[in-house]
Amino acid sequence: MATETHEDFSEPILPGKGASDYERYLRTDDLLALQKTSEEQSHPDELLFQTVHQSSELWLKLGTTEVARATAHVRAGELGAALRLLRRASLCLQFIVRQLDMLEQMSPWEYQTIRRVLGHGSGFDSPGFREVRRVTPPLGEAFEAAVAGAGLDVVEVYVQGREHEDLYQLAELLIEWDERVSLWRFRHYKVVARVIGDEVVGTQGTPVELLGGLIKNKLYPELWQARNELTALAKEDD
Ligand code: HEM
Repeated sequence: MATETHEDFSEPILPGKGASDYERYLRTDDLLALQKTSEEQSHPDELLFQTVHQSSELWLKLGTTEVARATAHVRAGELGAALRLLRRASLCLQFIVRQLDMLEQMSPWEYQTIRRVLGHGSGFDSPGFREVRRVTPPLGEAFEAAVAGAGLDVVEVYVQGREHEDLYQLAELLIEWDERVSLWRFRHYKVVARVIGDEVVGTQGTPVELLGGLIKNKLYPELWQARNELTALAKEDD
């Protein structure tokens, strides 16, 4: 017969700071101390500004971790496992695009007060985006090796997509990662133009115009080029 236990569920059992296991596990004391207090703020909207940036960094941390894990799976020939992780990574980018909306809730005039306390702080130094730049090329290389290993080229992955379902799905998730980075850049450019203008320079001296130019950057150009080739190929068949 099972012995009856009298566990007190209101008492924390995990080690660490905080009154409950919820607070201990999530380290909410530390997390919620990462934003300026109202006494430290130059403007109350600093909470909005810090929340959007800090949460973007967290989603980028998750997304880029999953891309690196997916790359290892592709190298090991475990395409199904890679697909799961790349779907998550893509969602992470979707979330950070959406949360840029929040920045447009700030008054462009009042934002100038916040801008004064940013020092030389610039998105170019975002650890999350540095990781995007770091993990993206190895994923492309692993994909190319997988395509070559199947005796195909990228165009054939599409033409014979039904016979190579996993490779086809992988190609689509790579182009999705690429597309979502561009969509973020486009959305960010519009937010910047709306908040500080499109004919000014940023906190690190970069002309905002230059940000507009980055929108056309392609992470995996061969996947975009494959579309042109598919269209040309289809024309030959007409
Ligand atoms: C009011 C909000 C924002 C303004 C006014 C703004 C402004 C700028 C400006 C002017 C630049 C050009 C570099 C410079 O000189 O600073 C830049 C770059 C950048 N910002 Fe922002 N930004 C805002 C929000 C964000 C957010 C929420 C993120 C998310 C992490 C972010 C990430 C970046 C990144 C990654 C770059 C480098 C550009 C690229 O790789 O495409 N920014 N931003």
